Amino acid sequence: MTSPEARERAVLEAVGERRERVNRAIPEELPIVRPERLYEASRYLLDAGGKRLRPTVLLTTGEALADVSPLSTPYRRFPGLDGRTIDLMAAAVSVEVIQSFTLIHDDIMDDDDLRRGVPAVHREYDVETAILAGDTLYSKAFEIMLETGAPPDRAVEALEVLATTCTRICEGQSLDVSFEARGEVTTEEYLEMIEQKTAVLYAASASLPAILMGADDETIEALSGYGLDVGRAFQIQDDVLDLTVPSEKLGKQRGSDLVEEKQTLITVHARQHGVDIEGLVDTEDVDRVTEGEIDDAVAELESAGSIEYANGMARTLADRGKDRLEVLPDNEARGLLEDLADYLIERGY
Ligand code: IPE
Ligand code: IPE
Ligand code: MG
Ligand code: MG
Ligand code: MG
Repeated sequence: MTSPEARERAVLEAVGERRERVNRAIPEELPIVRPERLYEASRYLLDAGGKRLRPTVLLTTGEALADVSPLSTPYRRFPGLDGRTIDLMAAAVSVEVIQSFTLIHDDIMDDDDLRRGVPAVHREYDVETAILAGDTLYSKAFEIMLETGAPPDRAVEALEVLATTCTRICEGQSLDVSFEARGEVTTEEYLEMIEQKTAVLYAASASLPAILMGADDETIEALSGYGLDVGRAFQIQDDVLDLTVPSEKLGKQRGSDLVEEKQTLITVHARQHGVDIEGLVDTEDVDRVTEGEIDDAVAELESAGSIEYANGMARTLADRGKDRLEVLPDNEARGLLEDLADYLIERGY
């Protein structure tokens, strides 16, 4: 048995190695062309950083399905299950481009100024440019997904998954914003909202290799289920980190969810346990909220057991996600997908 620390080190290394390859592929798939300001704004967040967790899930799922040792096979000429090769890296870049599109628009909606450690696109440029940069990335992702070289029926299926994923993200974001005005939401409503705004992109990332490589429906379904479970677990951890991690480390503003009066699993639980959520933070501007105010709010949420509750729910979902990987061959990449599920909820930023 390897220790948890050794497993975390291995995951970080695996994510880092894939991140580097994805980073090299992004300018190839999305060169800066005219009008330069639009493409520079579109590339701005992609170049600023990002953990690249979704492309990592995608590439690793491909490795597990093809039963190859991690990183041993060129992603641009990746073996399908029928002897054909596909460009798995194009699919990986496509999901990361979708991720960046949603972040640009999310920061406008959430009135956040900081993203990936740099000013949000609508702050570095302006709202008009940010909307267009997001729109450009949204449509480019489909163009890039068309570059995988998969046979037409699979390419169409992949595009369909990407399209329904984007529709569902918009539905989830709409719920997220509408919940701000609600005095109360149920745990079920919260879980449905995060499935749509966040988990569906993990589901797409985990199942797209199976679709492109020609796996059977049961495998596609199970991998999509893995993504839905670990994706929800990931969002619950994102909500915890929003409260607990300094902005410098997080690369986005700590306490933003409290200021924006977001409904998270933590606030849903706390409200059910008598905490006056609306009274936790008075400030309405994320730039003005003090660390002390957030610390006091967190102390109250902690004493209601709400953070522990959220951690427990994230753990249950991550474990369920791991169980779904039994459809895969028992290999090193599958082990990495299991460890990634843990990492998504144990990560510190
Ligand atoms: C942020 O996702 C958006 C959410 C769904 C919470 P990440 O935390 O993966 O952000 P990056 O891509 O690493 O910047
Ligand atoms: C974002 O949720 C989900 C997206 C689809 C982008 P959040 O609003 O919690 O993401 P962060 O915390 O700003 O990254
Ligand atoms: Mg948001
Ligand atoms: Mg946000
Ligand atoms: Mg968040």
